[in-house]
Amino acid sequence: MKHNITLIPGDGIGPEITSATVRIIEAAGVDVEWSTHILGAQAQEKYGTTLPDDAISSIRQNKVALKGPIMTPVGKGFTSVNVGLRKALDLYANVRPVKALPNVPCRYPELDLVIVRENTEGLYSGIEHVVVPGVVESLKVITEKASRRIVKYAFEFARDNGRRKVTAVHKANIMKLSDGLFLDLFYEVSKDFPDIEADDKIIDNCCMQLVMRPEQFDVLVMENLYGDILSDLCAGLIGGLGLAPGANIGEQGAVFEAVHGSAPDIAGQGIANPTAILMSGLMMLRHIGENDAAERAEKAMLAVFAEGKYLTRDLGGTTNTADFASAIIEKLRANETAAA
Ligand code: NAI
Repeated sequence: MKHNITLIPGDGIGPEITSATVRIIEAAGVDVEWSTHILGAQAQEKYGTTLPDDAISSIRQNKVALKGPIMTPVGKGFTSVNVGLRKALDLYANVRPVKALPNVPCRYPELDLVIVRENTEGLYSGIEHVVVPGVVESLKVITEKASRRIVKYAFEFARDNGRRKVTAVHKANIMKLSDGLFLDLFYEVSKDFPDIEADDKIIDNCCMQLVMRPEQFDVLVMENLYGDILSDLCAGLIGGLGLAPGANIGEQGAVFEAVHGSAPDIAGQGIANPTAILMSGLMMLRHIGENDAAERAEKAMLAVFAEGKYLTRDLGGTTNTADFASAIIEKLRANETAAA
């Protein structure tokens, strides 16, 4: 079956890592008609808008996209296209698995948890205004509708994936109304899932617990900004941002992208680690029913890690992005020949 998938190579290391992933997906035998689009500064220059309609309609039509990182200027300039895209398509659930890979030097080789981040509201929306010069307000909007659906998503995800516990992460001791609402809804929704354990942690303590005893966590659900920050913290526990994949899921479609950004410090050198976006691509393959291809590509990727010969620089190796992808493709082909 041919799949129509929107491809957004993105900025910085985006084109390097997405092309590595496309090569591996195609080598796994998945038949894809890619529809390629640009967003952000590139689109601003070409079309005069950072979020062109044709990119959004392409994702709406195809219902699935593989996306590289998009740069957002700091402290000035256009608002985040990543946030804009998630809002435009109502991609409310950001699912970010955190699992250590073989042979990767990291603090917690056994770690296996999943962050479920609310993706459409909260402080991360960047709703800000100047009250008077020198005084700025930033609004944190938490709604019953968005909180209920992300919590329900987290519990359903836990049940469907054989997970035992969901932890709500919050700061309801200080933000008694906004995080208080989130937490109340969490325990209300948890009653519909008696087979899944439910507990909660205040975010500051949660950060310390994640660093000291992460094995106590399984699925963690939280509002947008907390999810943004904890995702990078958790990536650090398993060996870095090059290894942390993600999926933005909604009723209108799904956009698969790595946790990391455009890495301007290493862009254009061909040395980025494509594993995070590749693993996002594997989540995408499972989402579109290409489970067998996902299994084979994952097996090949794990074999390359287990062998330890081809590691990118962030993991202490010397292999570049394209050669790392070639090593995975070679393993894929070798596995297929052995199975034939
Ligand atoms: P970043 O995630 O791009 O980079 C942080 C550090 O991790 C850098 O040292 C970078 O070299 C390294 N790194 C990241 N991905 C890597 C990979 N695949 N392989 C090897 N090393 C990797 O974060 P930063 O520098 O804060 O943000 C850069 C830009 O990316 C900003 O404009 C930001 O807005 C944007 N961004 C976009 C995201 C998205 O499109 N979803 C997510 C996060 C940031």
